[in-house]
Amino acid sequence: MSSTLAYQDGRLHWHRHDLAGIAAQVGTPCYLYDFEGIRANFRRLQAAFPSAEIHYSLKANANLAVIRALHAIGAHFDAVSGGEIFRAVQAGVPPSQIVFAGVGKTHRELDYALRLGVGWINAESSGELARIDQLARSLRATPRLALRLNPDVRADTHPHIATGHAAAKFGIPLAEAADLLSAHDPSRDAYRIEGLHVHIGSQLGSVDHTLEALDAALALMDGFPFLTTLDLGGGFPVSYTGEPVPTLEAFAEPITAALQGRPVRLILEPGRYIVAENGILLVEVQYVKPTSDGVIYVTDGGMTELIRPALYAATHGVLPLRHMPEAAVISHVVGPVCESADVLRAVVALPLLREGDLLAVLHAGAYGAVMASNYNARPLAPEIALESDDWRVVRRRQRWEDLIAEEV
Ligand SMILES: Cc1ncc(COP(=O)(O)O)c(C=O)c1O
Repeated sequence: MSSTLAYQDGRLHWHRHDLAGIAAQVGTPCYLYDFEGIRANFRRLQAAFPSAEIHYSLKANANLAVIRALHAIGAHFDAVSGGEIFRAVQAGVPPSQIVFAGVGKTHRELDYALRLGVGWINAESSGELARIDQLARSLRATPRLALRLNPDVRADTHPHIATGHAAAKFGIPLAEAADLLSAHDPSRDAYRIEGLHVHIGSQLGSVDHTLEALDAALALMDGFPFLTTLDLGGGFPVSYTGEPVPTLEAFAEPITAALQGRPVRLILEPGRYIVAENGILLVEVQYVKPTSDGVIYVTDGGMTELIRPALYAATHGVLPLRHMPEAAVISHVVGPVCESADVLRAVVALPLLREGDLLAVLHAGAYGAVMASNYNARPLAPEIALESDDWRVVRRRQRWEDLIAEEV
């Protein structure tokens, strides 16, 4: 991101786009997405894993324009709800290119997925298998399934986004998975188990636990020749503020080596890696409040637009839109929501800003707009697609009227 983000004539530009100019037209808060960057990251993944089928994880950013852009260059998709499947289908994705994952699929969601004919369902419990069996029978469908394993490994990441340890709600313990696979009888069951799925967490800080999980999955596959597909989930990390994180190649090389010589079809479900760095949240400083150690900037965007700092103590880079060479002061960038957790950046050195100054909150492309809420009756912010020469609004700002439209 940094090489494409630079001050020109004292104004922050992203590629050729003057960000304050966009803010002047669409208002703040707003999200900007670099579509060239999104496509480039998808292609990086394809290059690192040339034989894998890459299913973009819709949970990271499910804007229809993002889905269409990735679909156009060959992405398949990973959905964790009926709503995400609906979004993908509305964007033109064939259901056969969708994997349906998620720990709590309802009858209604499974019925929808089976009627559509999604490519795969990643089943997370014996209860879910029974539910799929019953629905598939009544619909005369024969869905293809992967069992999501709980390999009991502790991913090196924030506890809220670690999913592969024994106490996590996700997946099926290895011993139980082996029993379910032994008991699977395609002539009796209304589904075909053809794969395994493992996703141990997001923003993975090391490769080691992924390899542990991979070993466990491969050991299980060895005993059941009908398992031909391995879905290794997502989790490739992003450096939010320059901190070192393992590269894509650091994952790709050992994973590829472990699969060498095995006739395994590999699926990946990356989300954050594709979109995080390709999103910026623009906010405007409303008030400047002195504190004992520096200054608080109260902006018009907060946890309702970007909850990651409040939810995971995540750190996002913050840049003023006008270049100010003055000395920096200790700054706390907060939102307007009536919660003390409503922080965009807890502590950062920024030049002394004035009311009306604009700030870019970086790496807001993943788990930003998708986690936005109407808390405090705040309308959802618009989303803007930047292409190399132009930009367009791909989701308009909600109005106050929209906030009450469903109330009867
Ligand atoms: C099942 C599953 N697949 C894929 C992902 C995408 O993860 P990431 O955005 O870290 O690549 C997630 C997110 O946690 C997930 O739960």
